[in-house]
Amino acid sequence: MKINLNRIAKDTNIFLKNFLNKQNNSKLIPVMKYGLFPGGKKIRSKILIDIGFLLSINYKTLITVGAAVECIHAYSLIHDDLPCMDNDKMRRGKLSTHIKFGESTAVLAGNSLLIMAFEILASPTLKVSEKIKINLIKKLSECAGHLGMAGGQYLDLSYEKKKISKNKIIEMEIKKTGKLFSFCCAVPAIIKKKDKKEIKFFENIGSNIGLLFQIADDLIDFKGDSKKAGKKTRKDQKKGKATLISLLGYRNAIEYCDRIIFDINKNLKKYGSNSKNIKETLDYILNRDK
Ligand code: IPE
Ligand code: IPE
Ligand code: MG
Ligand code: MG
Ligand code: MG
Repeated sequence: MKINLNRIAKDTNIFLKNFLNKQNNSKLIPVMKYGLFPGGKKIRSKILIDIGFLLSINYKTLITVGAAVECIHAYSLIHDDLPCMDNDKMRRGKLSTHIKFGESTAVLAGNSLLIMAFEILASPTLKVSEKIKINLIKKLSECAGHLGMAGGQYLDLSYEKKKISKNKIIEMEIKKTGKLFSFCCAVPAIIKKKDKKEIKFFENIGSNIGLLFQIADDLIDFKGDSKKAGKKTRKDQKKGKATLISLLGYRNAIEYCDRIIFDINKNLKKYGSNSKNIKETLDYILNRDK
């Protein structure tokens, strides 16, 4: 079954709106909503669903876990834009959360979104066994924390204006962006109670998809149109960010992406025509302009 990105974005947003509306009100809710809606491609949920369908997981379950991932992603963007990090004023075609609401409020709304992700996984809305929930929460903690996204963001900032090797750049991009995609790809295998080896197989595919996604984001920064992207472009070079483009050049970075796509497709070959959706999603990831 093929479900397009718009439909996934819509269903994820409906889920998140319902979830937020069931919470007791607080002053941070409007700020959290600002970080979540509108905008956001929901590409992580799309990958989760593409891989989920390979293992015949039901759509509602995938949307629920995807919504948790999108909360972590939204938190990471709010924090990524802060003056102490990338210091960016535009996100998704509107003012960054800290510009709109102030820095301390943005930090706390980000924290709240991060925590809400785990609340979603623990909630009765997610219809999987308690054991599976614990395994999902454990894996997501690993992928978002100091060995995953947060650790990668730390490396990204500490590499600014330094000469960094190719392997170190790749390691940093896999941590800051790849690990959340690893989680998305591992979810269906965790739900199906697959063994460690198979979960690792899917995590590895996720790391590569995330790496591809981050290099494509770096390509958009290098050459893209800021109106279309909804955020300022041509800023990585000014900040002295370590990227494969700064190290190898634009053409070589694209060639590297082609090789990543080739490798992922090779790994998924055993799923035959069922892996067609992922193939199309990978092409979209590389060729998008936002
Ligand atoms: C941007 O992510 C930040 C990166 C990890 C490269 P997205 O491009 O997925 O952001 P939205 O959610 O669509 O705005
Ligand atoms: C962000 O990478 C990665 C995250 C984990 C948030 P970037 O800093 O390149 O993302 P943009 O370009 O600001 O969206
Ligand atoms: Mg950044
Ligand atoms: Mg940034
Ligand atoms: Mg970027």
